[in-house]
Amino acid sequence: MGKLKTGFPDDFLWGGAIACSQADGAWNEDGKGKSTQDCRWLDGSWTHDQIEEKHQNNPFSKAEFEAALLDDGTEYYPLRRGNDFYHHWREDLDLFAQMGLKLFRTSICWSRIFPNGDDAEPNPAGIAWYRELFAACHECGIKTFVTMLHYDIPVNLVTKYGGWKNRKTIEFFTRYVETIVEELGDLVDFWLPFNEFNAGRFAPWDGVCLIADEEGDNLDQQIFQCLHHQFVANARAIQIVHEKCPETPVGGMIARFCTYPATCRPEDNMQALHDDQYANWFYTDVMARGAYPAYMDRYFDKLGIEIQMEEGDEELIAANTVDFLSFSYYFSQVATADQGWEKTAGNLVMANKNPYLESTEWGWQIDPLGLRVTLNQMYDRYGLPLYIAENGLGTADVLEADGSVHDPYRIDYLRKHIDCMREAVIDGVDVRGYMIWGFLDLVSCGPLTMSKRYGVIYVDLDNSGKGSAKRYCKDSYYWYRSCIASNGADLG
Ligand code: BG6
Repeated sequence: MGKLKTGFPDDFLWGGAIACSQADGAWNEDGKGKSTQDCRWLDGSWTHDQIEEKHQNNPFSKAEFEAALLDDGTEYYPLRRGNDFYHHWREDLDLFAQMGLKLFRTSICWSRIFPNGDDAEPNPAGIAWYRELFAACHECGIKTFVTMLHYDIPVNLVTKYGGWKNRKTIEFFTRYVETIVEELGDLVDFWLPFNEFNAGRFAPWDGVCLIADEEGDNLDQQIFQCLHHQFVANARAIQIVHEKCPETPVGGMIARFCTYPATCRPEDNMQALHDDQYANWFYTDVMARGAYPAYMDRYFDKLGIEIQMEEGDEELIAANTVDFLSFSYYFSQVATADQGWEKTAGNLVMANKNPYLESTEWGWQIDPLGLRVTLNQMYDRYGLPLYIAENGLGTADVLEADGSVHDPYRIDYLRKHIDCMREAVIDGVDVRGYMIWGFLDLVSCGPLTMSKRYGVIYVDLDNSGKGSAKRYCKDSYYWYRSCIASNGADLG
């Protein structure tokens, strides 16, 4: 028997997370090529409702893609601007260091390293920038948790090869991984090949760069074929890290949809099992157990999906499993065998609404206890170390005239989630790190706005990119500083 834990381990990693396409900006500077995320557009003058209508009901279309390929401006392309981290990173890092941050998660932009994805040589300026950033993190005592691909692939790989539909993309990704692991591996503490592996199923453009209206009835087939190619690419990435940096852990990540049966009716429970398998477990089972789970056969059969595998794929996936698992956690949802259950928005999906929970302004249901449930479920199943790669609250914060930002709602949200995470530690779960998402305000991924703010640091930019880009510490910044200093004992 082990000894009952009473709180967070001494070396617990308190972190913050961003992603290059939502933060960096500088989309065509220093040799960076256009990426798939540089193509998503928004009219920054729209109202909240207009933006939500577009986001919820109009997935990225072929016409939008074609227009974006021809347009090299930034006016309608918020992800080309980000929060200008590329030019502000030194002052941002100072703020991170002053609060005692222990872990910084960001992603490397593939098109900053290989502007077209298939270039003969990498872009030295791209490598130099990441070396400077990661070395500076280490100088401040901050460990680096680095995502190799957070949705943005060089657009040329899509127009020329069809993106993840084509196995050639596995080769290009492998070369990209070899390059960044060789060039930056000494400065990276944790590698994460793919952000939210299950995103491809729920947000095809983000996850697997597929345009829904182009694929038509073939969409499901294409999604799972692309995902298979990503599983192979993921296994190659793990193999490369294990060979070149054997001391550095390499992990997997999903957007975790914590799922409760609507009632104790057996039918609802069965539905909850299936929802969990198809939306969550499939992805972590492949990455952690190294094989497609048997329950997917029936699912694929129902959807008419036939995955083309090549000889050696299954062996590669089996031989290269993850060292840890991580996940984003924002909400929970209800599983029911009934039709017509009330829906609400959730990260990447529309979810069945839980009458016991409150929602954010964007409809996502707030469920701290679901985080404890999730941590227990994942640890029970895999016994691997866990990291919460993203958690946080998106709200419309207000910058006061004196430069303060009062966000008691965010403090309340974080406090409750961290409390439940502590309970999970006492339950015996090996959770080693926690990263607040959108640590400094950035362009949201779904609605593409600055006004949905997650940060503990405010960035003075609006949905049209107007503003000073100055950074201001919110009340939650000071609160998190105390939380870190007390290793999670002082939650205010
Ligand atoms: C996760 C993504 O799905 O959710 C992030 O990894 C994203 O990129 C985050 O920003 C929050 O979603 P949104 O749409 O509110 O930005």
